[in-house]
Amino acid sequence: MQLERILQAQGFGTRKLCRIMIWNGEITVNGKVCEDPNADFATNNLSYTVNGESWDYHEKSYLMLHKPANYECSHKTQHHPTIYSLLPHPLVERDVQCIGRLDEDTTGLILISDDGQFIHRMSSPKHKVPKIYEVTCKHAIDEQQIAHILKGVQLVDEDLPIAALACEQISDRVIHMTLAEGKYHQVKRMLAAISNRVESLKRIQIGQLKLPVDLEVGQWRWLNEEDLNKLKPHS
Ligand code: URA
Repeated sequence: MQLERILQAQGFGTRKLCRIMIWNGEITVNGKVCEDPNADFATNNLSYTVNGESWDYHEKSYLMLHKPANYECSHKTQHHPTIYSLLPHPLVERDVQCIGRLDEDTTGLILISDDGQFIHRMSSPKHKVPKIYEVTCKHAIDEQQIAHILKGVQLVDEDLPIAALACEQISDRVIHMTLAEGKYHQVKRMLAAISNRVESLKRIQIGQLKLPVDLEVGQWRWLNEEDLNKLKPHS
């Protein structure tokens, strides 16, 4: 693929802008400055730098982010900064979207991509991708309440009771709750339905993919093959 097209596809601006960056000597490919916008490169395992910053070519972007509290999951936010401000500009230019929004006060694992099929598969209710939340409750939670969550609780505006796929007690006030759906404020509403309340909420797993312990709050990273396999329906 021509270098100017590669840069454009990776979110560095219009073709014209990318051409100017190349002419200006701002781009190196595989360690060498390339000033020819039409130079052809295989995109497989391609490494390049833009103004000294290293990038690898990704046909599609698949990312994970450790969402901090007080960030909103939409592009146009109302009260807080957007989670997209935590990503490098070229990724945002590629029109990446988060898969399943978290509330502004919820922290934890969020997936972000520009692959429409992947977004659909991960977010469609039909595929029932399980998500695990670490819930710190306001009041101590007992066996009866856990049994209730597993049997199903009736939420306002829902026709049928909704049950967690699993609910594990971690301590007096902390549970790990696995949900198949992603309904609006679902965990908070389920806790309210059993006369308890969410004090803090963190998503710790999607499918078989756990939030890595070394991914600091506010940090993101590319998903690798192993991560993507953990998100496949069979795993
Ligand atoms: N359930 C909630 O109540 N909030 C979230 O952010 C996610 C699940």
